[in-house]
Amino acid sequence: MAKTLIKNGTVVSATGRAAADVLVDGETIAAVLAPGSTLLGFDLEANVDTVVDAAGKYVIPGGVDAHTHMELPFGGTNASDTFETGTRAAAWGGTTTIIDFAVQRYGERVQDGLAAWHEKAAGNCAIDYGFHQIIGGVDEDSLQAMDTLIDEGITSFKLFMAYPGVFYSDDAQILKAMQKSAETGLLTMMHAENGPAIDVLAEQLAAQGKTDPYYHGLARAWQMEEEATHRAIMLANLTGAPLYVVHVSAKQAVEQLAWARDRGQNVFGETCPQYLYLSLEEQLGASSEEWGAFEGAKWVCSTPLRSREEGHQHSMWQALRTNDLQMVSTDHCPFCMKGQKELGLGDFRKIPNGIGTIEHRMDLMYQGVVTGEITLERWVELTSTTPARMFGLYGQKGVIQPGADADIVVYDPAGHTSIGMGEGRTHHMNMDHSAWEGFEIDGHVDTVLSRGKVLVDDNQYLGAKGDGRYLKRGLSQYLV
Ligand code: URP
Ligand code: ZN
Ligand code: ZN
Repeated sequence: MAKTLIKNGTVVSATGRAAADVLVDGETIAAVLAPGSTLLGFDLEANVDTVVDAAGKYVIPGGVDAHTHMELPFGGTNASDTFETGTRAAAWGGTTTIIDFAVQRYGERVQDGLAAWHEKAAGNCAIDYGFHQIIGGVDEDSLQAMDTLIDEGITSFKLFMAYPGVFYSDDAQILKAMQKSAETGLLTMMHAENGPAIDVLAEQLAAQGKTDPYYHGLARAWQMEEEATHRAIMLANLTGAPLYVVHVSAKQAVEQLAWARDRGQNVFGETCPQYLYLSLEEQLGASSEEWGAFEGAKWVCSTPLRSREEGHQHSMWQALRTNDLQMVSTDHCPFCMKGQKELGLGDFRKIPNGIGTIEHRMDLMYQGVVTGEITLERWVELTSTTPARMFGLYGQKGVIQPGADADIVVYDPAGHTSIGMGEGRTHHMNMDHSAWEGFEIDGHVDTVLSRGKVLVDDNQYLGAKGDGRYLKRGLSQYLV
């Protein structure tokens, strides 16, 4: 089995940092040692196959992105990244595990949706992957099927209070699914927006001729997110279900989460880089020669971008510091402008919802370290350790310690990353644009190991399709 020594680096964990060498034996971490140590008299450097010199660099556990949508069917099209292209882009950006959403829609069987997702992913992934289950049609059959999910290694499911007629569950369905969650320990993940009310607002805006992408954000007002978040919290409180609210963007929704957590409820929340960096005002101001004001479609996602004037982005960073929000995922759901986003030309309601970010999460969050929004340790905690623990992978993923999978990123704080498609910029997602065009990062992903295999080194991709394996997850390690 191949042995690798990562020497001279600063190993960063969720709780601290230390100068240390990391010895990898095969697929796992064998030892974390004082710099220059020998092991039982063996000169390590002389006895390993590969030495990675991490002097001046951070050595961190590979990123765990717990919210991705490869090939998601949405708005009459499918998210443009396949498991092959999306996971390769993830590896480029220092993410070594994803948890994607298998889909069950109304009238379909959970087992069939899950089988279809396994088929899409198996043999195609660059990195390890697990699944959550979308329950888009809560009925007797799907409730029964939920009993079998834990055996499949799927310990969380997502419900939608939004998207009527697509994935939407009403309160009665949510209540039943949450009762199942309380009974089994499955974590309820919630898309918390009041979909029926949003659809009325959207219809009224469209009827007034307000059809540009910007109006997507106006229809999906923060009140719709706050209300739904509160409702989800109360239904979870009543049933005893553990609750995880996805893609939180409104400061008022965070207040609801903080309120519930202060009362001792098992409620958690994630936000995404787009809600930390991008805003509704910028979407309103967006215009290009090619697309005019439709340029703003690049940033149509749900929950939507929020107003910077109202201070939502500031509140998200603050909540990440105070632990009112516990982690950062991407909600990676890319669509090209040509042939996909343009389905909504002249009617924002028809724009497929989603942004592609999987490659940039580690970098964008590191930029938060540079600007003083979060500490180095919190960076690791938000992007790797907490996601692993939240979704039953901790110990194997999310940490650099003996016995853990050797998913390791060597990150260079003196490096630089220019994101986008223009001259001198890069991304590897299957998109005809970048929602992050022009972002400059004061750091760089230098080397990425996934279970001991070097996937990325010095701007070269060394991995192969099918390197990644399916992960059977345990129950959330935050639940007692
Ligand atoms: O805009 C988004 N978020 N698209 C993906 C589907 C979802 O709601 O997560
Ligand atoms: Zn959602
Ligand atoms: Zn999503």
